[in-house]
Amino acid sequence: MTIRRVVILEFAPTADEIWLIPQHDRDGYSSYNMEDGLVSILDTAHDAKQRPEITTTYAGGKATNVARVLDRLLTGADGPCVELVTFLPPPEETMRDLRFVMTQGIPLVPSTAAGIYVQCLQMEALRIVKPRFEVLDELKKRGRMQTTRRCIEMTFEGAGGSLNFSPRIVWSQEAAHAVRDRVAKVTRDADLVVMAGSPPTWEAGTEACITPYSFYAEIVNALEPGCRVSIDSRGRYLHKCLAADRMPQFIFMNKEEFTESAESWEQLGRRAFPGIFMVHDEHGCWVWDSRLPDGTDPFSEAQYFPSVRVPRVYSTIGAGDAMHAGFLKEWICSGTDNATERLHRSVIYSQIVAAVSVSNEKATYGIHGDVVNDRFRSRIARS
Ligand SMILES: Nc1ncnc2c1ncn2[C@@H]1O[C@H](COP(=O)(O)OP(=O)(O)O)[C@@H](O)[C@H]1O
Ligand SMILES: [Mg+2]
Repeated sequence: MTIRRVVILEFAPTADEIWLIPQHDRDGYSSYNMEDGLVSILDTAHDAKQRPEITTTYAGGKATNVARVLDRLLTGADGPCVELVTFLPPPEETMRDLRFVMTQGIPLVPSTAAGIYVQCLQMEALRIVKPRFEVLDELKKRGRMQTTRRCIEMTFEGAGGSLNFSPRIVWSQEAAHAVRDRVAKVTRDADLVVMAGSPPTWEAGTEACITPYSFYAEIVNALEPGCRVSIDSRGRYLHKCLAADRMPQFIFMNKEEFTESAESWEQLGRRAFPGIFMVHDEHGCWVWDSRLPDGTDPFSEAQYFPSVRVPRVYSTIGAGDAMHAGFLKEWICSGTDNATERLHRSVIYSQIVAAVSVSNEKATYGIHGDVVNDRFRSRIARS
């Protein structure tokens, strides 16, 4: 089946920043002891202000990461129309009167100041993937809701490791229902829908309501029949999808996320599964084709693909999202009808993207389509 329209869904948009905390005589010193996980900040003058250097600012969120990497890997000639759809809160007060003009054919939409900032960051990062912004009244902040956020990764001068501040997106029950209904509208005619990361949280009402644990299953059910789905998430958010009649076609998770839900695989183990299930860690990937892993000795039944070796690891941030994007790129564009070959090529392509991502200083930002394609061609030629 040809994939002509891909819709990537971002439910948890963020403006990400990376901060470097310097060592400074007046403004203070900091250290991070990775062994015990303790960050110490010494305020030498007792009235010092920390003056972090903002090293990077970019559009984040797991689905946005996938979109950004896919954008790097696709060339305009590759064919499919790929959209990144982000769900944002409505504008309030004077912001309601904002009117935007189109920028490169993409309409910015009135939202909160934070919602507009996210839109700008996404637009800046994407050339081929088209951002599309869906504003919902139900995402208006009430009580403890958080519908956009900023995530901050703190790094410390002269020390390894980093500390990540990542506020949760918090919805209401009404917001979850409204987003599900909007997804059904925006995905009409899509051949493939992509979701990544944990869904937002909210306090679910009665038993009949959507919960964060049933959210992805609800989304899959709301799509048109025949639309395929690719998900990268923890097992606990997938269980309901895998127990339902309609299932995702591609599932990705890292090994830790996989092993923490061992019970799920035991319960689901014997279900027929018309798709690809891929688990990965730094050593390699385990792939189940057309069946689910079961709980007893799952890895013995999987096909194993060792990782591409990298001489030096700079940053593994977002490497799993990069793999997800790499797999889909090759799956969509491989041009072969042979199912086994298509799967092999897609897994290997995804591993090369991960290797490129971890082995450069800019992580997913340092991924270039030509570098990946050159490595992939020479790898395929050797096999
Ligand atoms: N040294 C490495 N060499 C090759 N691949 C790596 C290396 N380190 C990490 N990876 C790949 O990156 C993946 C990271 O995935 P994950 O933990 O899901 O990260 P994230 O969710 O932050 O993107 C690993 O599972 C592995 O496949
Ligand atoms: Mg991951």
